[in-house]
Amino acid sequence: MSAKRYVKIAPSILSADFSRLGEQVAEVEKAGADLIHVDVMDGHFVPNLTIGPLVVRSLKKVTALPLDVHLMVDNPDQLIPAFVEAGADLITVQVEVCYHLHRTIHSIKQLGVKAGAVLNPSTPLSMLEHILPDVDLILLMSVNPGFGGQVFIPQVLGKLANLRRLVDDQGLDVELEIDGGVKLDNAAGIAETGADILVAGSAIFDNPQPAEMVKRMRAILNEI
Ligand code: DX5
Ligand code: ZN
Repeated sequence: MSAKRYVKIAPSILSADFSRLGEQVAEVEKAGADLIHVDVMDGHFVPNLTIGPLVVRSLKKVTALPLDVHLMVDNPDQLIPAFVEAGADLITVQVEVCYHLHRTIHSIKQLGVKAGAVLNPSTPLSMLEHILPDVDLILLMSVNPGFGGQVFIPQVLGKLANLRRLVDDQGLDVELEIDGGVKLDNAAGIAETGADILVAGSAIFDNPQPAEMVKRMRAILNEI
């Protein structure tokens, strides 16, 4: 990448201490986080259960940062209005479960929030061919979704490079987000390959000082 880009940090609260959620979100906000990533899991699409609209509503009261709501659920259409009402600023849906992706993306936008599509590691970029101009963001999963603390799948770097080229060649205003296995030691490489937003869960919240980890990641990203 030639021009210097500002790469955003989105701490994922999946790895936060839920008994101190407000406090931890305030800490990472103060340390310079750009978004708060909220992982919604239904126990069907992924083998884990997490957060519903109630938590998003509470988060909205304690942070001014945009809430980036990642729906890892089988039926996103049913849940989207409740998450918008609760305060989501960006909603992403997995392409693997959307029979009518174009309709789902536009229904999110019609509710007044940003809309994005998510690809699992083994889902090809060709799934995006006819939707790219409609989305605000594409999220590439760099682990199989369901859990924090997994290892970054290296093939996703090539996928990211190809997607960056596609978006730039078409002159689209679409942000590229990477989610899963992002750590201090691979953040620069992922950003240089073309990511605009890095989600980091365990890298930030598995540390006793989450704010320190945000600052260290910011310093690394400022170097590129
Ligand atoms: C995984 C989630 C991620 C998760 C990332 O299914 O979508 O957002 O929180 O966690 P780390 O950064 O620990 O891989
Ligand atoms: Zn996520």
